[in-house]
Amino acid sequence: MATTGGQLGGTVSLVTGASSGIGEAAAFDLARLGSAVALVARRADRLEALAERIRQQGGTALVVEADVSDQQQAEDAVARTVAELGRLDVLVNNAGVMLVGPVLDADAEEWRRMVQVNVLGLLYCARAALPHLLRAAEDEPRRVADLVNISSVAGRETRSGSAVYNATKHGVGAFANALRQEVTTRHVRVSLVEPGAVDTELVGHNRPEILEVFRARFGQMERLAADDIASAVSYIVTRPRHVAINEILVRPTEQV
Ligand SMILES: NC(=O)c1ccc[n+]([C@@H]2O[C@H](COP(=O)([O-])OP(=O)(O)OC[C@H]3O[C@@H](n4cnc5c(N)ncnc54)[C@H](OP(=O)(O)O)[C@@H]3O)[C@@H](O)[C@H]2O)c1
Repeated sequence: MATTGGQLGGTVSLVTGASSGIGEAAAFDLARLGSAVALVARRADRLEALAERIRQQGGTALVVEADVSDQQQAEDAVARTVAELGRLDVLVNNAGVMLVGPVLDADAEEWRRMVQVNVLGLLYCARAALPHLLRAAEDEPRRVADLVNISSVAGRETRSGSAVYNATKHGVGAFANALRQEVTTRHVRVSLVEPGAVDTELVGHNRPEILEVFRARFGQMERLAADDIASAVSYIVTRPRHVAINEILVRPTEQV
């Protein structure tokens, strides 16, 4: 059940991609604020370790192993969260992959993975969560609910070599902005967080020649920590009911 203390006491959050990086940090911070958190990703061992850390801090965590690019699994993850934790007040749509490189001779399988996770996975989770968020928005303790979407600087700008990742993150922005207009008068706040370079596992899934490009571009730069983005998420969801933070763009200071 939702815990009672803290700024988010009595609420339940679901974070996708909670097994590493930004999702892991965001889930931990939401739990610190008193929200009971459902941790969703494919690597259950990583989720279990995070759940243990949260419980040691006195928080409540539910491990939900799921591939969000599978519609049924995404829907089941939301349903299980509501069944076991009682409600849903905050969805952090964070799971994502970034597999970049020139369009010419690109591996279409990498494109499919990005579209399936970054776009379809995010849509499936949003769709499954919305009825519950609308219900939470009519209810105490907050009478407002949040759907936070993790996009990217790549969702505002385009760059040679990132065409398909750009397409997925621009898609996230378009979806969030349109959905916001559908539900904001019912007090479901739909927001976008757009990080610049964050020190996580994300880049590591690319081919060796791409990793070399990243090393050359970001090697010397002090990147953001996952906690820096978790703070942005927590800021959004702890605003008073009448304040909707629609968009936050966060770059490392040295990122041009
Ligand atoms: N790092 C950056 O510089 C940066 C910048 C801008 C935006 N972002 C965005 O931030 C988000 C989080 O990325 P990150 O940087 O924290 O990278 P990360 O450490 O690689 O985390 C990605 C998370 O997504 C999960 N995931 C991937 N495919 C999934 C699937 N099919 N089903 C469920 N979960 C899945 C992974 O878990 P499993 O593998 O266990 O499933 C992992 O927990 C992404 O949307 C990314 O595009 C990152």
